[in-house]
Amino acid sequence: MIKHKRLNHWIQNIEALCKPDSVVICDGSRLEFDSMMDLLQDAGVAKQLNPSIRPNSYLVRSDQKDVARVESRTFICSEQPEDAGPTNNWADPAEMKSTLENLFKGSMTGRTMYVIPFSMGPIGSPIAHIGVEITDSPYVVASMHIMTRVSSAVLTELGEDGDYVPCIHSVGKPLDNHSDDVPWPCNPDNLYVAHFPKTREIWSFGSGYGGNALLGKKCFALRIASAMAREEGWLAEHMLILKLTNPQGVARYIAGAFPSACGKTNLAMLVPSMPDWKVETVGDDICWMKFGDDGQLYAINPEAGFFGVAPGTGMETNPNAMLSLKENCLFTNVAETDEGDIWWEGMTEEAPAHLIDWLGQDWTPESTEPAAHPNARFTVSASQCPAIAQEWQDLQGVPISAILFGGRRATVVPLVNEADSWEQGTFFGSIVSSEKTAAAAGRIGELRRDPMAMLPFCGYNMADYWQHWIHLGQQHKDQLPKIFYVNWFRKDAQGRFMWPGFGENSRVLKWIFERCEGTAEALSTPIGKLPTLDSIDFSGLNMTDEEIASLLRVEIQGWLEELPLIRDYYQQFGDKLPTELNHQLNQMQQKLEAATQSAS
Ligand code: OXD
Ligand code: MN
Repeated sequence: MIKHKRLNHWIQNIEALCKPDSVVICDGSRLEFDSMMDLLQDAGVAKQLNPSIRPNSYLVRSDQKDVARVESRTFICSEQPEDAGPTNNWADPAEMKSTLENLFKGSMTGRTMYVIPFSMGPIGSPIAHIGVEITDSPYVVASMHIMTRVSSAVLTELGEDGDYVPCIHSVGKPLDNHSDDVPWPCNPDNLYVAHFPKTREIWSFGSGYGGNALLGKKCFALRIASAMAREEGWLAEHMLILKLTNPQGVARYIAGAFPSACGKTNLAMLVPSMPDWKVETVGDDICWMKFGDDGQLYAINPEAGFFGVAPGTGMETNPNAMLSLKENCLFTNVAETDEGDIWWEGMTEEAPAHLIDWLGQDWTPESTEPAAHPNARFTVSASQCPAIAQEWQDLQGVPISAILFGGRRATVVPLVNEADSWEQGTFFGSIVSSEKTAAAAGRIGELRRDPMAMLPFCGYNMADYWQHWIHLGQQHKDQLPKIFYVNWFRKDAQGRFMWPGFGENSRVLKWIFERCEGTAEALSTPIGKLPTLDSIDFSGLNMTDEEIASLLRVEIQGWLEELPLIRDYYQQFGDKLPTELNHQLNQMQQKLEAATQSAS
């Protein structure tokens, strides 16, 4: 029984619109999960893996046309186009509602409509928020069980008039006759993932996959939450959260924003190469941060699981992820071994002699196509990660000492530099970029800017979002985290990575930790504070002094060439661009020019 009148009313309205055969209010129980998996197995879309190898785990194969988030069909439906800004697809809210209402009309005929009450963040945390997703997909119900906190305790927490974000999802394939169903129903030709920041609603139609369908993740926890955070004075970010403990047992918490495919999950679960340093995981993808009464910034991971990209994950690259996947997992679009287990590129050095690929076809190492789809995923509860920090579900969150921004840059950007101020840190965040193509050493390649790694996830105008960052910094001057810009991907003139990455990134984390403690040295430069050559521990890495110096060099000329590109990039935001960012840019230019003059 739902006591919340507004929620009841909404459920009834959606039922009347979508005309499902029946309605189920989900309780998050094991029984419910098992019944979803039974339905998916009966439909021929899920297969239980060999229980003696991978207990209680399933392989799901999606439709070939429904394999990833679709940014081109993702819309921010704010009042005016400039509220969404130049980096989002804008749609008029009234027009979009009418399009969607037409699509959703009768869209669940022949199906069950599931109502999933879920909490993003531990129930009862002052940083958490509640959502309710309506869906006609048992795969979404099962995945939401792992990725969020689904339970009737959420309804209790909502009480009679608590706030929740309504999320409505349909695969968009009504059934007149059950025999017409297909294993993975979807409607890719009519796909919409629409966000209404003013009314805090999400409507998603036509896809059953990942970020298009598990609406707690990118849609709520980033796009809608970023708009909520702006109104309410907090931050909803595309960031991992890790706990770093030094040999003396002192712990600090670090959040980090990196664009997709820059190793966020690997960094969150890092096994340090530095003796007696420990990294533990709080979150691998999303971070909500609010200021506490003591003025500090506290963070929670709003998710309850990991929805990780499987290819490239192996015991070498991320042992903690692999060890998390021993049981109770959903695997989507990976390959299947002859023993009834799973495999993907990068899981082992050598591929098995025979597999069934993600399309259900025979595969051998001679095959020209990958066995797993490049965006194949594992879905697993965070509690199964051997590196999970014991406080990952603490209601008050964890106090953040440092925020990292990073992209994939072969040139110009040094291994690490510390912003002189929160404003400069915001500037660094705003210019995060990855090279689209390999660039010759010393030259700028074609850059894709992904500010704060939020390009596809910011629910409003990116320039207003930067302004929000600056505003929070001005409001909370005293106890702000330090901000660092890191780059693991610098290449030498031969195109080889200069930094080994993975566990060795702990050396950089150690420097960051010690900067927060006030014990590591740094050099003031035109681009912020860089480590002195001996303040980062490079021992045992077999790097020459020359190589170390190149990793930490300020590329005056490279930065001077980059600044006009940043100016061009900023232009699209017109007068919404915060003056503080222009000021940072001008100041950096002056300092770089002064440095060239003093060198000549
Ligand atoms: C993700 C992404 O799936 O960033 O986490 O695309
Ligand atoms: Mn992500």
